[in-house]
Amino acid sequence: MQKFVIVLAAGNGTRMKSKLYKVLHPVCGLPMVQHVVNAAKETKADKIVTIVGAGSDQVKELLAGQSDFALQEKQLGTGDAVLAAKDLLSNQAGLTLVTTGDTPLFTGETFNNLFKYHEEQKNAATVLTAKAPDPFGYGRIIRDAQGHVERIVEQKDGNAEELAVDEINTGVFCFDNQKLFHALSKVTCDNAQGEYYLTDVLEILRNEGEAVGAYKMADFSQCLGVNDRVNLSIATKLMQKRINEKHMRNGVTFIDPDHTYIDIDVEIGQDTVIEPGVIIKGNTTIGSDCLITSGSRIIDSKIGDHVTVTSSTIEKSEMEHNTDIGPNSHLRPQSLIKTGAHIGNFVEVKKAEVGVNTKVGHLTYIGDATLGKEINVGCGTIFSNYDGVHKHHTYVGDYSFVGAGSTLIAPIKVADHAFIAADSTITKDVDKYDMAIARGRQVNKPDYWFKLPVAENGEEGEQK
Ligand code: UD1
Ligand code: CA
Repeated sequence: MQKFVIVLAAGNGTRMKSKLYKVLHPVCGLPMVQHVVNAAKETKADKIVTIVGAGSDQVKELLAGQSDFALQEKQLGTGDAVLAAKDLLSNQAGLTLVTTGDTPLFTGETFNNLFKYHEEQKNAATVLTAKAPDPFGYGRIIRDAQGHVERIVEQKDGNAEELAVDEINTGVFCFDNQKLFHALSKVTCDNAQGEYYLTDVLEILRNEGEAVGAYKMADFSQCLGVNDRVNLSIATKLMQKRINEKHMRNGVTFIDPDHTYIDIDVEIGQDTVIEPGVIIKGNTTIGSDCLITSGSRIIDSKIGDHVTVTSSTIEKSEMEHNTDIGPNSHLRPQSLIKTGAHIGNFVEVKKAEVGVNTKVGHLTYIGDATLGKEINVGCGTIFSNYDGVHKHHTYVGDYSFVGAGSTLIAPIKVADHAFIAADSTITKDVDKYDMAIARGRQVNKPDYWFKLPVAENGEEGEQK
């Protein structure tokens, strides 16, 4: 039997009050509709069709190659939205799962269970339902005296008795594909919102003598629909819980999982410990036996094993095994910290390679540079990479020593085994085994104290 999935994503999302298309709002690092399509892919459907509205180029761009698209020109309701897929699907025999792009928490397993239940029951239509803690805003499932599903009533159309029902339409359905399109042609917009409701298909099929049923989920936590930013924050919390529990089951320690924010595609190795207030985003991999402390923010980066990140920010960079950084340091994009290297506090590194076992302990800026191995970079060193127009590169060779407070004005090459005296302003290349010293000489002026105005305030009697 062929299987299809239709994802409804053409709605305006007015309640979000946003410039961004509703289904593109991210939940734990992925746009909502991408979560939905990922779950749809797990059903191994023969075709996924996403219904998009005019001006939804970003949705098409996001899902290109993952889904087919059908355009719903005017947002006339969920029933009308499914009809937009008519040309692509209506001739096909098979089963169609319809879901909404604003329900990001459904798992592929739930979709598969719905397909299975629908087939076993030999239904024409099956709606996925759940008991909602607060059913407000959802369509209510109205059952007859025998407990069979009769119809779905929307919030705006229901009477008090109907609205008291707490079993809700999750927005996910499974249909016999051809019966779906047949029934859709009969849906009218005679309701409080003047919309063509997909939910009316159930009543239409039932009145034609078809088998219509419900598959009731035990818990509501996957069913949340995101219509506004309050829902968005709740969906994010639920998704975060799921992500963090997965990592904990895989052997990662979270000191306080309720306050640790990890995007869905992040990978973390065993025995790594993550403190509260850590944010790990995008396409990031963290190795095993790492410690990531409070206030760290790691984005699209690769962290090896045995790495300590102390309250630091790392963006699009790599830290190899046995390295450490922080507190309060910043790796900007394209930085590579090689094995054994140490980045201490208040250090900024940008587009630079810091070699094996090299130490950059304190208050330093390294930009556009290549540092070899076993180098010591003293406190307060500045790699001066910008002349106001262009960026220039600095090389520092293996085993070199850069004294505290130095400024290296790029472009510059410091060879292996070179020594730069503290507080030097280096403007010329330094050769192997040489020492460079470039600073004003110290001059001591004897008894100068007594020429200063301050002398009146102290050390009376000693005045000459
Ligand atoms: C819908 C259901 C409701 C269910 C709830 C579950 C209907 C009539 N109501 O209500 O029973 O409890 O979802 O979350 O189906 N869309 C389009 N084109 C349109 C209108 C909507 O593509 O013309 C898309 C939206 O992008 C959205 C989805 O369909 O992804 C649901 O639309 P929305 O307006 O959010 O419906 P709800 O009021 O939440
Ligand atoms: Ca909705």
